[in-house]
Amino acid sequence: MMRVVCPGSFDPITYGHLDVIERASEQFDEVVVAVLVNRTKGSLFTVEERMEMIRETVKEFANVKVDSWSGLLIDYCKERKIRAIVKGLRAVSDFDYELQMGQMNRQLSGVETLFMATRPEYSFLSSSLVKELATYGGDVSTYVPAPVHASLLERMSGGKS
Ligand code: PNS
Repeated sequence: MMRVVCPGSFDPITYGHLDVIERASEQFDEVVVAVLVNRTKGSLFTVEERMEMIRETVKEFANVKVDSWSGLLIDYCKERKIRAIVKGLRAVSDFDYELQMGQMNRQLSGVETLFMATRPEYSFLSSSLVKELATYGGDVSTYVPAPVHASLLERMSGGKS
């Protein structure tokens, strides 16, 4: 049984994330989408809100689970007996940092990082850009799943945080 983790901030999940999660679910027995609490980054949505949006988005994939973790990703992997991390690579600009992190994680724990090239149509997509676009009233419906779009509209109109 090969279980992998797709970690991230997912603030919020986009079609770019979903692409990687879906394709990982076709390659591995189980995929855990883990919302990592980043203490250095502010967030628009709470961890619970982010998890709920992900659950809604991945509900059709039977082997995809959603979880959260506050701490090092390798400690999460150790606790859940996960041997590999799956990360999407959008462009060369992602590679430097992802390579560093992957190498450090492997040296510290033996956990492998497997990179998956995102579809070219999502290579420019990021949660930050989606949030910026939504902040100024831009249409983000082609970049995020419907439940996320609804949550963004609610949040931008001053809805609960
Ligand atoms: O979606 P993001 O913000 O690009 O995801 C980055 C994330 C959360 C996967 C990464 O920062 C992470 O793994 N954070 C947990 C802390 C950790 O293990 N850091 C790596 C030290 S080498």
